[in-house]
Amino acid sequence: MSKKIFSGVQPTGNLHLGNYLGAIKNFVELNNDDENECIFCVVDLHAITVKQDKEQLKNNIRETTATFIASGIDPNKSIIFNQSKVHAHAEGSWILSCMSPMGWLNRMTQFKEKAGKDKEKASVGLYIYPILMASDILLYDTTHVPVGEDQKQHLELTRNIAQKFNKDFNSEDFFKVPEPLIKKNFSRIMSLKDGLKKMSKSDFSDLSRINLTDTKDEIINKIKKAKTDSFPIPNEESELKDRPEATNLLGIYSSILNQKLEKTLVEFGGKNFSEFKIQLSEILSNKIAPISDEIKRLIKDREYLDRILLEGANKADEIANKKIKEIKKIVGF
Ligand code: TYM
Repeated sequence: MSKKIFSGVQPTGNLHLGNYLGAIKNFVELNNDDENECIFCVVDLHAITVKQDKEQLKNNIRETTATFIASGIDPNKSIIFNQSKVHAHAEGSWILSCMSPMGWLNRMTQFKEKAGKDKEKASVGLYIYPILMASDILLYDTTHVPVGEDQKQHLELTRNIAQKFNKDFNSEDFFKVPEPLIKKNFSRIMSLKDGLKKMSKSDFSDLSRINLTDTKDEIINKIKKAKTDSFPIPNEESELKDRPEATNLLGIYSSILNQKLEKTLVEFGGKNFSEFKIQLSEILSNKIAPISDEIKRLIKDREYLDRILLEGANKADEIANKKIKEIKKIVGF
């Protein structure tokens, strides 16, 4: 059966290896399977839940689009668009907000992390952010949503909202209940400086992440400086317990090569990290540097990127508009 795929990435700059291995690499694989219908969204409405610089936001929308294409998503096969161009996302979000209990949102751990200590100052948008995400997904009768581990709870919420809407309005199967596609291994890439912290765009230290726009030399330097421990690489997975930095680097290596961690341990077991890091830099720069070069080339071609986004928005709008009309009818408008 063909899968309907939807996923989104925020245009907040500094797209990194975590975004790539946790999400974008999977988007490319799904895009390459002719059975699938894929939609990839630059979620600019989500981006403004925290303050953005206007010019920077415009650039980041284009850069995220360029990153999708440079990574291998084919805009002739998949729909690529930015969320604010399709009105149904915001409209759907409002309707879904009105039938989602606050209790469900109060459980969202990402809001707690992002709002930090001073919750009172966080925007209302940040609080209801997962409902906009549900609207994104449900408008397209999505069956599968490829994301990194950190989005798992938001996907659960989307499923709950879909089921509640169908039940409240006596419209069985109106919203498809989507399945998350989260890779079993390596779906949470950690900071290069602290193996217990997620690799993140907002980390103040640029050495904590590999950006998708990094050059070969920058990648080599960051891997050289990445935190490890003083023990050699073990032969068994069980011996990686309580060694988060080692686990992360070995996971990155395995994920880039699409191989099991076990195999990586057979290759490197007993060796020290300095040797492993040379190999890791090599495979990482072979993978990321060409993407980085292509992003830098594409970003200069504004007209091309804007055309992709416009064509994508027209196609997405047609689908989403039909669905929002049905939603409004069901609700009683
Ligand atoms: P965002 O923009 O924070 O991240 C984009 C994607 O990258 C994944 N990711 C990671 N994966 C592994 N390790 C990491 N360190 C790491 N950091 C980020 C995220 O899991 C995500 O898949 N709410 C979403 C965007 C969104 C969305 C949607 C996703 C809006 N609407 C509808 C799916 C469907 C977000 O903020 O992702």
